[in-house]
Amino acid sequence: MDKFIIEGGERLKGKVRISGSKNAVLPALAATLLQRGKYSIGNVPRLMDVTTMMQLLDLLGARCVWRDEHTIDIDTTGVENHVAPYELVKKMRASVLALGALIGGLRKATVSYPGGCAIGERPIDLHLKGLSALGCDVAIREGYVDVTAKKLKGARIVFDSVTVGGTENLLMAAVFAKGETLIENAAREPEVVDLARMLKKMGARIEGEGTAVIRILGVGELNPCAWDVIEDRIEAGTFLAACGMTRGSIVLENCVPEHIKAVIDKLTETGMEIHCDGRTIKASMSKRRPLAVDIRTVPYPGFPTDMQAQLMASMTTSKGVSAITETIFENRMMHAAELRRMGADIRVVGNTAIVHGVESISGAKVMATDLRASASLIIAGLAAYGKTEVSRIYHIDRGYERIEEKLKNLGARIERVKDENMGA
Ligand code: UD1
Repeated sequence: MDKFIIEGGERLKGKVRISGSKNAVLPALAATLLQRGKYSIGNVPRLMDVTTMMQLLDLLGARCVWRDEHTIDIDTTGVENHVAPYELVKKMRASVLALGALIGGLRKATVSYPGGCAIGERPIDLHLKGLSALGCDVAIREGYVDVTAKKLKGARIVFDSVTVGGTENLLMAAVFAKGETLIENAAREPEVVDLARMLKKMGARIEGEGTAVIRILGVGELNPCAWDVIEDRIEAGTFLAACGMTRGSIVLENCVPEHIKAVIDKLTETGMEIHCDGRTIKASMSKRRPLAVDIRTVPYPGFPTDMQAQLMASMTTSKGVSAITETIFENRMMHAAELRRMGADIRVVGNTAIVHGVESISGAKVMATDLRASASLIIAGLAAYGKTEVSRIYHIDRGYERIEEKLKNLGARIERVKDENMGA
């Protein structure tokens, strides 16, 4: 197992290129199960989660090969298997996206029921309710969700709350459903829109993606396609947060500023100067201490829960007091305790963290608990005085492509080393 050793205190400076989006590529890969044939998915980041999704597709009978650094060729002609096993789903919850894709493609899916995870319970009841509405029989047996559909029929599905994965699963399941399907209170995240656009390129009839009501008219068949996924808005936001906390000055290339408008607005409130030009963002903190801001996580287009931990890190050395409220997941404040070990003044009351900005924090040995928490600890380590060791960084490898290389190019002192105290 690896850990990062960070010598803090360097201001980030320079250019960084943003990779393809993890949360867009996973549904895009799953969607290749809808119609047998040859696909090519581009702008793919090299991440553990992508490897896991490729393993799942291979296990189901597809063949996935890297054509070049960022393109995967997928042949789903031989897909016969419809079982996503426990061993893969426990590694990556997004395997649950196989549900909608297999139902659409094979009319049957058996997927290990995902358990809780570090950030919350994360049930899939809304996915299952939606599938039932489309005419599926749903049963839970021996830890697996067993879904079959003799016929898929269009339905009106109103989500009780906004779910990204649920919207994606139902989009995929509904493309072949006879008649009209309406998904109301749908997720509006850019990754949902990207999936809808890929499905439309395949011949699906979908309207309203990016709004709260998505309308799908069932079609008889689709055509495999080539698709380039969008850039990773959370990676972009993470670099901006790191720039703010280290009081640096960076340029993000290859990103979509509109996708992180809420994050840009917040960082602007902290005093960061941000200029967007096409697919480039220039950000500068001009050696200033960030001002404290309040944050509340909400579904897109509001402030994303996936940026909460990183902004909490930057608030630890801000001027003033910041209230950070998490409304999406029940247990997404684990990084607060680790940041406290670095000298941060954070009090968590319910789902709100009150952060009193201190002049500076100091390096410490800290442990990553989930993907975005790892990012927040790295950001804190970059700005802290002295040495920070972040262990359990397998979390970061799930979702950030070559993060230490990108940070080094921006002047950070960060090294990946073997963690002798942790097992392999
Ligand atoms: C996706 C993202 C994740 C992000 C999250 C919220 C991927 C691979 N992951 O996760 O990075 O943090 O959106 O933006 O795209 N819920 C239910 N019942 C359900 C489904 C969800 O109660 O059937 C709840 C969840 O427990 C959570 C909330 O709804 O509290 C939002 O979850 P959801 O949008 O479904 O998140 P994911 O799709 O799992």
